[in-house]
Amino acid sequence: MDICGELTDLRLRVAAWRREGLRIGFVPTMGNLHAGHYSLVRLARDHADRVVASVFVNPTQFGPGEDFARYPRTPERDAAGLEAAGCDLVWQPSVETMYPFGAEHAVRMRVPGVTEVLDGAHRPGHFDGVCTVVSRLFNQVQPDVAAFGRKDYQQLAVIRDLVRDLAFPLRLLAGDTVREADGLAMSSRNQYLSEAERSVAPELHRALLAMRDAAWAGESRASAEAAARSRLQAAGFQVDYAVIRTPALAEPEAGTDGPRVALAAARLGATRLIDNLEFELP
Ligand code: PAJ
Repeated sequence: MDICGELTDLRLRVAAWRREGLRIGFVPTMGNLHAGHYSLVRLARDHADRVVASVFVNPTQFGPGEDFARYPRTPERDAAGLEAAGCDLVWQPSVETMYPFGAEHAVRMRVPGVTEVLDGAHRPGHFDGVCTVVSRLFNQVQPDVAAFGRKDYQQLAVIRDLVRDLAFPLRLLAGDTVREADGLAMSSRNQYLSEAERSVAPELHRALLAMRDAAWAGESRASAEAAARSRLQAAGFQVDYAVIRTPALAEPEAGTDGPRVALAAARLGATRLIDNLEFELP
């Protein structure tokens, strides 16, 4: 496995693969990798001949009070894990390489609509930053397929719109959420949790299961959402949202059936956790 940080290097390697007629898979990450990320590398492998993973902590997607500076950076461990997962090339650009005019002066992307609710409303500018860096990464790597996790459900929906609207010539793959044994979705941010917070954290997943069960039992959406919110608050979370939506993240009409997703974002101390659960309302 090779690691490169210069764009000319990346382009040479990818161009050589293309000349051989090989299909390129891509997994964008911010590093501090765990089993969830590695499952995406394996997913990309299943659909491509070579896999590129990027490791880049993207300053434009962090808000002013957020954790950009202290976001965990573990490049050596990440490289070892990526190699073991079957990655062929790590794209690890500096901030200067990613943003030649500086992050403040970057050409910015904005996807309307789906970015205006939930995390988009709670983290202003976050998805603009994600779209800004993902567009660059797609142009740099030029993959045939790119894998994203369902763990970040709204991010996946935003990237789908971005790819469709800008006609990026690639296919998106969605990977299932990898969880700890107690149900907590794996996340680089879990390590911020104190021991006490870590023992409470799986309540987030349980609250989603309870929302689904309430919807299945015919309870109204409002009451299922209110119960989830109170349950999380009682466990010590500060809740940003705990809701049931359609796959497009719209509010479902009362009395209608179909695919649903329960989504929640809540803070334990200074750590913000998100999770979601897809289900069918028959
Ligand atoms: P990051 O949080 O590092 O996540 C990289 C990819 O891993 C995303 O597609 C995310 O959904 C997926 N992922 C995270 N936790 C997962 C889990 N427990 N199970 C399965 N997949 C999981 O998401 C980002 O980085 C950034 O916003 C990025 C897209 C790289 C743009 O900077």
